Order: sequence, then C-alpha cells, then structure tokens
Amino acid sequence: MKIAIACDHGGFELKEAVKAYLESRGDVEVTDLGTNSAESVDYPKYGRACAEAVASGEADRGIVCCGTGIGISIAANKVKGIRCGLCTNVEMAELTRKHNNANMLAMGGRIIDEETGIAITKAFLDTEFEGGRHQRRIDQIEG
Ligand code: RB5
Repeated sequence: MKIAIACDHGGFELKEAVKAYLESRGDVEVTDLGTNSAESVDYPKYGRACAEAVASGEADRGIVCCGTGIGISIAANKVKGIRCGLCTNVEMAELTRKHNNANMLAMGGRIIDEETGIAITKAFLDTEFEGGRHQRRIDQIEG
C-alpha cells in the first residue's frame, strides 16, 4: 500500500512519529509531502497536496496532521473523492474505515500523544470497509 503523509508545523512531531511507525511496518511505501520542520506554514497547501496524491491514485491512502487536525481535514475534504476522517481515538479510526471508507486520516498533534497517533494509524490501515448500507450513504455524499 502506498501512503502519502503531510502536516503543518502543529502536526510536525506527530507526522514524524507516524512516519517512523509506517516505515517500521515493512508493508507500506511512504511519500512524505512535508512540512519538514516546526517552522510556521499554512496547512491548506499540505492538506490539498496529500489529498491530490490520493485522488490521483499516486497514493492509496493519505495521513495528515495539523495542530487540531481540523483545518487540514477540512482542506483535504475539499478535493473530490476524498473522505478524510478526523480521529482522536482508535474507535473513531475503526469506524471511519468500516462506515465511511475513509481514504484519508487526520490527527491533531496538539490534541493526542504520539502513542495514540500510532494506534490510530494502525487501526486506520488495518480495518476494512463494511460496504452494504454504508456504500449507499457514501454514494449520496459523492452525488
Ligand atoms: C496552526 O497554528 C493551527 O491553526 C493549525 O495547525 C490547525 O490546528 C488548524 O486547524
């Protein structure tokens, strides 16, 4: 599985921790779209870049981090075909895969610790979509 990751300064440390976890798994290929320091940047650019990588098929999934996860998830969800779920715990990550077939995960570096972020990432990657009535609802979102 190919995974694109991106963040702003508020999500930089969490993105680095998630990236190290992804690289340790050995079953995913990671593309890091930045930012690569704690210097202040604007999250829309990074959210959009990651979302476009997923929407174009360059990546199978995307993971984005900002301070809260809110801004960068809003930016990602503006790109057609993206379903970016903002998660603060493992149950949300499992449900955004099972019910929303989320193709992107957003997390907040100022909201959750790195251990939680890694557990959420694992659930996001390892949980399958349930289909059925959930596919009907996703079709309604896509219009
Ligand atoms: C940056 O200070 C902060 O606003 C950003 O990381 C994010 O939390 C926005 O939603």
